[in-house]
Amino acid sequence: MEKIIVRKSEPLKGHVKIDGAKNSALPIIAASLLGTEDIILEDVPNLADVKVILQVLNELGAETEYLDENTVRINSANLNSYQTPYALMSKMRASFLVMGPLLARLGRTETHMPGGCAIGSRPIDLHLKGFMALGALIVENTSVIGAKAEKGLIGDIIYLDFPSVGATQNIMMAATHAKGETIIENAAKEPEIVDLANFLNKMGADVKGAGTSSIRIKGVNKLRGCTHQIIPDRIEAATFMVAAAITKGDVTIDNIITSHIRPVIAKLKEIGCTITEFENEDKVRVVGPDRPRGTRIKTLPYPGFPTDVQAQFMALMTICEGISKVEETVFENRFMHVAELQKMGALIVTEGKEARIAGVPKLKGANVKATDLRAGAALVLAGLIADGVTSVGDIYHIDRGYNNIVGKLRGLGANIDRITD
Ligand code: UD1
Repeated sequence: MEKIIVRKSEPLKGHVKIDGAKNSALPIIAASLLGTEDIILEDVPNLADVKVILQVLNELGAETEYLDENTVRINSANLNSYQTPYALMSKMRASFLVMGPLLARLGRTETHMPGGCAIGSRPIDLHLKGFMALGALIVENTSVIGAKAEKGLIGDIIYLDFPSVGATQNIMMAATHAKGETIIENAAKEPEIVDLANFLNKMGADVKGAGTSSIRIKGVNKLRGCTHQIIPDRIEAATFMVAAAITKGDVTIDNIITSHIRPVIAKLKEIGCTITEFENEDKVRVVGPDRPRGTRIKTLPYPGFPTDVQAQFMALMTICEGISKVEETVFENRFMHVAELQKMGALIVTEGKEARIAGVPKLKGANVKATDLRAGAALVLAGLIADGVTSVGDIYHIDRGYNNIVGKLRGLGANIDRITD
């Protein structure tokens, strides 16, 4: 079993380069199923989740090939299945994103209840509601979910009860081949939605309004091949910004779009970090304060504070002066890192969707487990400032979303190793 061993480290210093965004790459790879010509994707991050979605495409009959470490060619001319294998679905919830493209392309899709991080019930009712509004019939039993639209989909107005990222993406993809116009109201506004829309438009789709809460998609008959570069990963970037803050470091983060992480920048400034942005340059410098001040965060859909940075920020709050508060409004069960941080000496009390953190001057090393992807990152960050040694287990969660986190932190001077037990 592999583990990450972190020892108390000096303040992090230097430059770190951010990879392409996992949460953009996954839907865009799924969207490659919509056309028959070659798709070339650049800046695809080298992650376990990306490998899973490429394998899903292979199982459906698409060809996938790495042209270099971060460039992938996909050709979906010869799809031969509309069924996503259970073994892959259970590994990653985002595999569900192939449903929209398959429904659009083949008029049929069948899958299993998706897997992924165990953070709340994460139902898919909004995805299905969207497919139904476009005229699909839903076929559902205890383990299999399917949708059928043998005569094709028909555009309609769809109101999402919650601006779900995955549902917005799935409906957008399904609607690219629907007859007439589809309007998604209360759509998610995340940068990854905009990246997907830009990609679809390069393929010849007609998607307008991505990045606002109303997205209009006019159906087209055929999509073509294209080359597309995935946007930088704002969550990986935020994780390294917190790493700089927690270690009182001085880190410049390269390949970052600062407008994508405004709330994280604002909160880091509030706790006492010095943040320098550089005009027309895709980098940001973060200098951590001697002792950060406590603050409050409330996770919200974009452009609010991202739920995917909540755990890392909580790790930072454990050593902030005074009381900090976290309110998690996006997922119902996203405090699993609390018990692990408590093992390291953090003083945290949770009640429902709120956590109250009383800052302590120091943490202590402990044996902890990555309970989900971002929780894993949070524990690694906590380990950097904890006295002694922190051993983080179940790091397969971390591998789902961070490429070479150990190497990148070592490059900044962290005392960290990956070992096989
Ligand atoms: C995506 C991201 C994930 C991030 C999340 C919120 C990917 C691959 N994953 O996940 O990293 O944490 O956005 O920013 O991009 N919900 C429903 N019904 C549905 C769909 C969702 O009730 O049909 C609820 C979920 O249970 C959850 C909330 O909506 O409480 C947010 O989910 P959603 O925005 O769909 O997240 P994902 O697309 O799964």
